[in-house]
Amino acid sequence: MEQLMRDTFLYFAKNRSINQLAKRYGLKFGADRFVAGDSIQPAIATVKELNGQNILATLDHLGEFVSSPEEAKESTDYCLRTLDAIQESGVKSHMSLKMTQLGLDISEQLCMGHMREILTRAREYGNFVRIDMEDFSHNEITLKIFKILREEFGESVGLVIQSYLYKSEADVQELNSLHPNLRIVKGAYKEPDSVAYPNKADVDLNYVNLVKLHLLNGNYTAVASHDERIIHQVKGFVKEQSIPNSQFEFQMLYGISTQLQKELTKQGYTVRVYVPYGNDWFGYFMRRLAERPANVGFVMKSMFK
Ligand code: FDA
Repeated sequence: MEQLMRDTFLYFAKNRSINQLAKRYGLKFGADRFVAGDSIQPAIATVKELNGQNILATLDHLGEFVSSPEEAKESTDYCLRTLDAIQESGVKSHMSLKMTQLGLDISEQLCMGHMREILTRAREYGNFVRIDMEDFSHNEITLKIFKILREEFGESVGLVIQSYLYKSEADVQELNSLHPNLRIVKGAYKEPDSVAYPNKADVDLNYVNLVKLHLLNGNYTAVASHDERIIHQVKGFVKEQSIPNSQFEFQMLYGISTQLQKELTKQGYTVRVYVPYGNDWFGYFMRRLAERPANVGFVMKSMFK
């Protein structure tokens, strides 16, 4: 039953018509638990609140699977305005983005042009942009573009690696020559057994292996998970290996495990929260429900309120 619910949410997450429809209706079904508003003002206010608790942020103007050059340009402008808003307000926040929102499905060149514009602005401000990793069909092209941009923009750009993919260990090793800042996640899309571990235990094991590998290679690592067992293991490992707190950070999603975010901050760790905003919220929201079908309870509550 749980697997069926997961698959249904992930199917909705990728359905363009439903995503387009949802854009017109504002944040519904309790999505505001995970999305910090449909415009930049409430998102900046949320980041200020987090900063007040010594928690850093990475702002994400939601959007993905864009299919026209006009939409891709519009998304690029939103990303640029997000960087401007961070700079003007003085909040402590990076930015995350998905390359399909910048036209990756239309043309690689178009997307590269938009990425260069965004990274030029980020470098000017001394800020940092993380490229999220999307579904497997975009994996190779994302790695290829990242390698080029990392050469051009150095430490202004980072990438995400998913532990559910068999290929990720080889990717982390191959990327090592660039010493990139990587965020390690478990992976949020529906992938076939031919490319991804079908069992959660293997995904979790590979997660810890990838974090250890990247840390031991001497690279900055964003440990992005709400899994308390994994966080505990990472804390033990860095202590044992004398890896300084300045070489890694814990990352979590807005609205999830907020108490844990505060506790880790109090213990002296760097914590960064991923703060999504904007009207293209539906796909992101569906993936959060798929991760924990028990969340459906609060969706029902919000519908009957
Ligand atoms: P797991 O799913 O095992 O959950 C551990 C515990 O965390 C659960 O028992 C529950 O308590 C809590 N939890 C997890 N998800 C929850 C939810 N939705 N609602 C309520 N509680 C929940 N993925 C991707 O494919 N590409 C990307 O670029 C990113 N980027 C990204 C950035 C950041 C900062 C984070 C934290 C995550 C991502 N992800 C991602 C998502 C990631 O792949 C994964 O789907 C989620 O983080 C959930 O996995 P956990 O590691 O939390 O473990």
